[in-house]
Amino acid sequence: MEKITPSDKVLLLGESTFLVDVGKGLFHTNHGTINLSKLVGKKFGARIKSSKGVAFHALRPNINDFLQKRLARLPQIVSLKDCSLIAGLTGLSSGYRVIEAGTGSAFLTTFMANLVKPDGKVFTYELRSDFFRSAKINVEDSGLSRWVEMKNRDVSKGFREKDADLIVLDMIGAEKIVPKAGKSLKSGGFLAVYSPYIEQVKAVCDAIEMESFMDVRTVECLVRDYKITRDFSRPNTTMLAHTGYITFARKV
Ligand SMILES: C[S@@+](CC[C@H](N)C(=O)[O-])C[C@H]1O[C@@H](n2cnc3c(N)ncnc32)[C@H](O)[C@@H]1O
Repeated sequence: MEKITPSDKVLLLGESTFLVDVGKGLFHTNHGTINLSKLVGKKFGARIKSSKGVAFHALRPNINDFLQKRLARLPQIVSLKDCSLIAGLTGLSSGYRVIEAGTGSAFLTTFMANLVKPDGKVFTYELRSDFFRSAKINVEDSGLSRWVEMKNRDVSKGFREKDADLIVLDMIGAEKIVPKAGKSLKSGGFLAVYSPYIEQVKAVCDAIEMESFMDVRTVECLVRDYKITRDFSRPNTTMLAHTGYITFARKV
């Protein structure tokens, strides 16, 4: 097993979870201070205690840890459960050419970049320069920037890329972009449109009907967590269960 170096990031899993740069040295938490330099030379998985005696496991972080614990959020993200629906229902995998609008916080961008590598690419468009700058920092921090081409550009002017395997739209007025998506998708390619409201779904489906798409399907993004105990089990009292809808269609 590889040993931890000062240039690594580690996931500290304990009573709380943190994703930290080992090179930072001291990390202050409400469970006490953690001296990260003590991890250098130890194996991933090692245990470390804070100044208050609280134990953490120092694990190697994966993409989901990065997305949930590190990525800076500005506009509302597509949550991990919804990212997985997009991947699962479009076959998103290595080699895919993906176009996305808007980039927003680049949560979905980064999730998709991790799946398309090493041969694919995500081309992502963002209108606002403040969101664009923050998203760029997120993508660079993820280590996946080789697989992302970021554009600070209004997508209503159209996409520059053709022959996409997948186009994902998560933006207000997505229905107006559907005809442009049709022109940039390869035959058999997928369109996925994320909509927070059902009225938007209707507008998107109307737009899809006017273009060369088949296999249209709208799903509700709903995952419920359960609390399982020795005695009685039931759904969690509070959770992020329903988030929105995704409409899928296939270019023909
Ligand atoms: C909800 S956010 C996208 C969040 C993103 N999917 C994520 O997971 O981080 C919608 C984004 O679309 C951008 N947007 C809206 N209209 C646009 C346009 N015409 N061209 C490019 N981006 C646009 C907004 O500025 C905003 O950042």
